[in-house]
Order: sequence, then C-alpha cells, then structure tokens
Amino acid sequence: MSLTIALSKGRLLTGAAALFTKAGLPFPPLDTRRLIVGEDGLRFLFVKDMDVPVYVEYGVADAGICGSDVLLEAGSDVLMPLDLGFGRCRMVLAAPPSSGFAEAWPMSLRVATKYANVARTFLEARGLAAEIVKLQGSVEIAPGLGLADCIVDMVETGRTLRENGLDVVEEIASTSARLVVNRASDHTRRTEVAALLASLRASL
Ligand code: PRP
Repeated sequence: MSLTIALSKGRLLTGAAALFTKAGLPFPPLDTRRLIVGEDGLRFLFVKDMDVPVYVEYGVADAGICGSDVLLEAGSDVLMPLDLGFGRCRMVLAAPPSSGFAEAWPMSLRVATKYANVARTFLEARGLAAEIVKLQGSVEIAPGLGLADCIVDMVETGRTLRENGLDVVEEIASTSARLVVNRASDHTRRTEVAALLASLRASL
C-alpha cells in the first residue's frame, strides 16, 4: 500500500511541489479539483492547512506538509522530523500605530486571530488578560473596524500589514514548512517513511 500524504492548497503548495519534484517523488497536478489523488505509488489528500496535522495525528495520512504556525496552534501529537526550509514567515502581534502598544501594553485587550491558542498562550505568559476573537482570515481589517485592538497573524512580505495600516509590535515565532509523520506509521510503515524522508532530506 502507498503512503498517504496530507497537503493543503494554500501558500505552501508550490514549495511542496518543487521539493517533491526535485526529490524525484510523484506529486499531484496543481490545478486538479480532486481532493484525493493517487500518483505513482503515493496518495495525496488536499485538506485545509489547519487540518493537515489532524489527518496525520489520527493516522488517516501517514505524513503531511504544513507550516509550523499550524503545528503551534494545533498542538497535535505528530512527529516533526524535517524542516523543509521553504514557506518562511513570521507570526507576529500587530496593531495600528495609534494603539500605544509601542509605549505600554494595555492590561486587557481584544485580539483577532486564526491562532487563538498561540495568542492566548503568548499573552498569558505576559500576564495580560486577552479576549480572543477567532476569525478564519483577513484578520488585518479587524482593528480598523473596531473588532479588536490588535491581531496575531502571519507575515511574509509585510505588505498586507502595511496596506491595512498595522505595525508589527512583537514577533511571536518564525515559521516554515514542516514534514509531519504519524507516530504509528513511523513504525508500521518504517521502510516507506524512511525512504520518503531520505529523498526529501537529500533535496533540501
Ligand atoms: C496570510 C496572512 C496574511 C498574509 C501575509 O494570509 O494571514 O494575511 O498572508 O502575507 P504578506 O506579509 O506577504 O502580505 P493568507 O493569504 O494565507 O490568507 P488568510 O487571510 O486566509 O490567512
């Protein structure tokens, strides 16, 4: 039986395709609308980025590719043997320049984010009470519309922050694409998992 690999159709997909191709591994066509694709002995699942570690943790997928931002948020019990080196981003707390964060942080604040767990942990570690407003994306508009005081989100080029009038207040983590592996598959499919790892490692 072939290995099953969970991917997301988000921003890591082209990097994953480039890496698999360089490693001589099969990869599904990028323009397919099929969500389960068998390709030369591997089976690929296209799922939402936050769901990649879920499919891997539960063993539906033997392995997956997702950002370390997703892993920080999900806290899934998966193996993380490889930093794939692409998709480098920063997870930051950002706020409007007028918010006064640069001088002093408010003791209680409302944060809009897709990363509720990361945001809560980060702010609690500073002794701050945070109300988390969980959004699914486009969080950069929340402060300007009065939905939140600040956001926790990913920054790649910084353009989205800039064009929506936000400044980075603090970096929470630097992130990149990771290979994740199911704990059981690492034993039961040892040969295939090791071959996958070796091919990818050799191409980094
Ligand atoms: C991500 C992130 C920012 C943007 C940052 O969004 O949430 O909105 O990219 O990129 P930049 O610094 O290069 O401007 P994504 O496109 O993944 O969509 P999302 O709104 O669903 O999070």
